[in-house]
Amino acid sequence: MSSRQLYDTIGAGYTATRRTEPRIAARIWDALGDARTVLNVGAGTGSYEPPGRDVTAAEPSEVMRAQRPAGAAPCVAAAADSLPFEDQSFDAAMAVSTTHHWPDPIAGLREMRRVARRVVVFTHDSTDAGWRHRFWLTRDYLPEVAGLTAGRPSLGEQARAIGARTEPVPIPWDCADGLFEAYWRRPEAYLDEDVRRGVSVWARVGPQVEQRAVRSLRDDLASGRWAERNRDLLTLDAAELGLRLLIA
Ligand SMILES: C[S@@+](CC[C@H](N)C(=O)[O-])C[C@H]1O[C@@H](n2cnc3c(N)ncnc32)[C@H](O)[C@@H]1O
Repeated sequence: MSSRQLYDTIGAGYTATRRTEPRIAARIWDALGDARTVLNVGAGTGSYEPPGRDVTAAEPSEVMRAQRPAGAAPCVAAAADSLPFEDQSFDAAMAVSTTHHWPDPIAGLREMRRVARRVVVFTHDSTDAGWRHRFWLTRDYLPEVAGLTAGRPSLGEQARAIGARTEPVPIPWDCADGLFEAYWRRPEAYLDEDVRRGVSVWARVGPQVEQRAVRSLRDDLASGRWAERNRDLLTLDAAELGLRLLIA
């Protein structure tokens, strides 16, 4: 299934849990600098689109486009690797939580570079040997996520393709955007079906793995094992879980 088809299948309830997290937005908008015209690639339902700028969105999934609120920026049906815009036609191009879905992320990033003078991408570093172990959910319950990134270009390769620098983005404990790592200090949230439906990882590992992971987490929360293993997290306000900005 292509990533567009994936979101046409799983995207219907996206806005139940996915929305702009102001502290992450502040980092993205700051990285956009003084850009007046901004292209949002893999724009989904419009989260993180900056106010006060001239925004154009590009999004391949019809189901996602249909959930854009009234008054949101105009949105074209397009995928990252073939953006229907002239060279250097935007001051900046941004992409948030989407490059891991692109069939060819390097081609997509180069397209962003072609159409815009500045590129800002919010993504995650999945190639660090410690990545799987950085987050208790993948380490203890969902080791299968490692297989989802096999053969994908590393963060370094993506950065090099567009001459970007990388900056870490810590995830606040009360992150408003229900992305995969959002509930690192609120483990019970992962028992909620709606929370899981807002994150493609769960669909991609399949129902059997999902049910096993949820059962195991539920047992560990009930027995106190989760708290015993992760007590250090309970005093943190933000966690470094490999989320990154690429800025070129
Ligand atoms: C997790 S959502 C992120 C949406 C939005 N950027 C946000 O932050 O809420 C991933 C989005 O990437 C889109 N997508 C999938 N394949 C794509 C591609 N090849 N090019 C551009 N976007 C793609 C999906 O349709 C989906 O809307």
